Amino acid sequence: MTALRDVFRHPAPAFAPDELAALASEHFGLDGTIELLDSERDQNARVITADGTYVLKVANAHEDTGVLDLQLAMLEHLARVAPDLPVPRVVHTRGGFAATTVGAHHVRVVSHLPGQTLASVPRTPELEVELGRLLGRLSAGLRGFGHPAAHRPGFLWNLDDAALVRSWADDVADADDRAVVATAFRRHEQRVLPVLHELPAQVLHQDANDFNVLVHAARVGGLIDFGDATFGRRVNELAVGLAYALLEVPDVVATARRVIGGFVEHTPLEPAELRVVFDLTAARLAMSVVISSRRAHEFPDNAYLTVTQAPALRLLHRLVGMRPEFLHFVARDAAGLPAVPQHDAIVAWLRSSDCRPVSPLPFDLRRAGRIVVSLADGAPGMHVAGDPVAYWDWMQREMAAHDAVVAIGRYGEDRNVYAGDQFTTDAPETRSVHTGIDLFVADGTPVHSMLPGTVETVVDNDLPFDYGPTVIVRHDAGEAGPFWVLYGHLSRRTLSTVRPGQRVEAGEVIAFVGDHTVNGGWAPHVHIQIMTDLMADPDVGPDGNFEGAGEPSRMSVWRQIVPDADLLLRFGPDTWANAEPPADLLERRHVDLGPSLSTSYRAKLTIVRGDGAWLVDHTGRHHLDCVNNVCHVGHAHPHVVEALARQAAVLNTNTRYLHRTILDYAERLAATFPDPLRVVYFVNSGSEANELALRLARTVTGRHDVVAVDWGYHGNTNDLVEISAYKFNRRGGGGRQPHVQLAELPDPYRGRLRSYEPAAGQAYGDDVAAAIARAVDHDSRGPAAFIAESISGCGGQVVFPDGYLARAYEHARAAGALCIADEVQVGFGRVGRAMWAFELQGVVPDIVTLGKPMGNGHPLAAVVTTAEIAGAFANGMEWFNTFGGNPVSCAVGMAVLDVIEGEGLQARALDTGSYLVDGLRALQQRHEAIGDVRGEGMYLGVDLVTDRDTREPATAFAGDVAERMRARGVLISTDGPADNVLKLKPPIVFGRAEADVLLDELDAVLSRPAIAR
Ligand SMILES: Cc1ncc(COP(=O)(O)O)c(C=O)c1O
Repeated sequence: MTALRDVFRHPAPAFAPDELAALASEHFGLDGTIELLDSERDQNARVITADGTYVLKVANAHEDTGVLDLQLAMLEHLARVAPDLPVPRVVHTRGGFAATTVGAHHVRVVSHLPGQTLASVPRTPELEVELGRLLGRLSAGLRGFGHPAAHRPGFLWNLDDAALVRSWADDVADADDRAVVATAFRRHEQRVLPVLHELPAQVLHQDANDFNVLVHAARVGGLIDFGDATFGRRVNELAVGLAYALLEVPDVVATARRVIGGFVEHTPLEPAELRVVFDLTAARLAMSVVISSRRAHEFPDNAYLTVTQAPALRLLHRLVGMRPEFLHFVARDAAGLPAVPQHDAIVAWLRSSDCRPVSPLPFDLRRAGRIVVSLADGAPGMHVAGDPVAYWDWMQREMAAHDAVVAIGRYGEDRNVYAGDQFTTDAPETRSVHTGIDLFVADGTPVHSMLPGTVETVVDNDLPFDYGPTVIVRHDAGEAGPFWVLYGHLSRRTLSTVRPGQRVEAGEVIAFVGDHTVNGGWAPHVHIQIMTDLMADPDVGPDGNFEGAGEPSRMSVWRQIVPDADLLLRFGPDTWANAEPPADLLERRHVDLGPSLSTSYRAKLTIVRGDGAWLVDHTGRHHLDCVNNVCHVGHAHPHVVEALARQAAVLNTNTRYLHRTILDYAERLAATFPDPLRVVYFVNSGSEANELALRLARTVTGRHDVVAVDWGYHGNTNDLVEISAYKFNRRGGGGRQPHVQLAELPDPYRGRLRSYEPAAGQAYGDDVAAAIARAVDHDSRGPAAFIAESISGCGGQVVFPDGYLARAYEHARAAGALCIADEVQVGFGRVGRAMWAFELQGVVPDIVTLGKPMGNGHPLAAVVTTAEIAGAFANGMEWFNTFGGNPVSCAVGMAVLDVIEGEGLQARALDTGSYLVDGLRALQQRHEAIGDVRGEGMYLGVDLVTDRDTREPATAFAGDVAERMRARGVLISTDGPADNVLKLKPPIVFGRAEADVLLDELDAVLSRPAIAR
């Protein structure tokens, strides 16, 4: 430790200006005027010549000549490898040497760099970035430079050797200052020393303080004073730069990000370097403080020595006040790396099928009716938010008005409700952005662990605006390592519910929601957040508290430390955050789309997302979809979506060009039909399919009339409304046209013959003969076609008695009519026992029409017929359909078949369907209102009656049941001539779990008397 003492014991050289002028002239050939410069230990002077300005440097007699040579060699190296770097150039002696000696003094000359010191100009963000860039460029330039004198044992300012001066911390006068200095050294020991040998090292400048950095023309344009050059860890260059750059700045993190960002543009840093850069910055500040304290101790008269201490100490207090790991993450973020190294892997695990979180509350949160509340300035309810009791009252009223059992406060919301001191930071902003999700429910509500894990801490953070009792549970994300979930604002009872170290299972009660007297003064709620790193103080360990809000400007870092708790709660706010509530859309809809377009339910639904058998509304509530037989293989099935997107990105055009996909698809589809059904016409809707089916029949038979089954529905075109009794015989309908004859609906529950036996089938089938006779009366040519849905949908989910279609087809064919099976509702495996519902009746139609499920929501439909009929149809008139059979639609149709086959959905429809029928029949035992349960596979009807004997349809009650089911998050519809049949035809990915939800809710609804209307 000689350097400190010796430099101060040996006064700086003191040549007179004329002596310096003579020196410059004689040795360096520079004739000019001399201006003396301030220096602590050397004598420096400006030499102003006609050609330019130079700096003459006369070294202290005690100066190590090796170090002086090191400096010259560095400058010469940089001039070679980084000629653009603004550092002084070495001016050689007349004899061509880099330096000379005068007496005991080493003398050298370097070029003078223009500009003012960084210390003397106003600081701007751009200058901070440029400072980083300058140091990054310097660092890159010095890579590969070596010099024996760069190893300076005992040199006090080598940050690698911070530990050398650690013991001087005792000299720091103030106890608080001493404590932060000690912490900085301790962190250096804990976090830096163990990895020191792994960090890249090179020769460093190590003294980029504000007086050594020059600003020229408003840009950082120079770095001078290589006197502290030494070999050390590369990252020290940046750390020392930060130790100066961060002094007295309003926002340490913001400035540091700029300097680091600039640095890594030229010298990318390794993760290990970024991990310790702030620890090194603090260590450097601590070194400065203790070295100047020690000097002050030795040279009590030298006031200058302690002047620089105050800002360094202020910065040290700020840095030490932040979690070291937080600063580590800031450094990574600034360097363009993910802020938290393990973040991506943890998030991937949270999104994977390995992660199966359960509801944290005693009900299924995804399905629960909820309101979403905002605690942002000016949001509804915020006028009373200062009073937790009033706010909770307001919230409960809102919840009641929206059938809600929970109110959700969102992640990432900027709120100004965090008034406690703990939310102020070292920056000119408070931590105001919420990093958890709030679930507002009554106090005392049990809170369940969402995953299996181990309780980390159970602590009462008993400060106003704080968490009150808080539980943190550690979970394992497989190879991604641990992560934590914090549950805050709990009740005191929680403190004795679980203990640290305790293993908990998913669903286990770990806490209870607290009230405002214990939870920090808030309306009752649980704040849930995920933490990818506990950022625990290495001296203290996890302390049970953790920031629940972040600074707006630091959210890029916070979002990685505290990712969205929605990864576990799975509300999916990205899909509903900006969705309009139903009332807003309904108004526009009436105006834009006309009043006849119907909407389901009294309480309208805005649906923003579909997922399997679930539909998600504008609040993120998941509703069980028991109606949508269009999204057959599940809403938004990824395989179908992918196929659609892939083909759409390549080609979509009409069928006038040859394309293989349409052929592959047609063949694959036709292969699911019995012979001789072989030829496929692609269209875009069920209506188009039936329309084309009629055209085929009429063209081929040369006839016009049609026999259809009563209560049938075949589509929305004029021709089809005319053959759909469900339309023409109901409100707004014009009645039956003479060219259409109706055969009676063969309804085994309410019809003429109440049986599924073949005898009933035959008898009903014979009614088709009667209809044909009426058709012949109308037009002697007889009917072109007999059309029937294979199971009657609008007729009330009516499954025909055995043998009905066989008998009906017999009559139709005998009369020369073609037989059309409308499979638009029921096809594609829904009925479980067969791919096509007509197969259950043991018939082979002449023409089959397909639609709804075929494209899983994409408009895709088809007519399948025989080669013979197709041949007869080709009478010269062209068949063309702009959209039908386009490559995108065919790719989608193919993908739907893939999923039906690949996921065994036909078998699933049979299994779930049977399970549901059993469950519904069990409900029928207990609920008088259920007159009949019928259907095939996942095409079911529950016939509600006011009297089981008379089978009087319970129309109003059925409507009310559907409404109340909707309020409970289960979507069903009603149908049938009297609208009294609950219609169940969900996506066939619907499994037993979903069936249980349906059965439970239906049971609950049927158990309570109908709401009086
Ligand atoms: C049995 C039946 N056929 C045809 C159609 C008409 O299909 P789309 O609405 O696709 O035109 C429907 C529609 O509900 C239907 O239920």
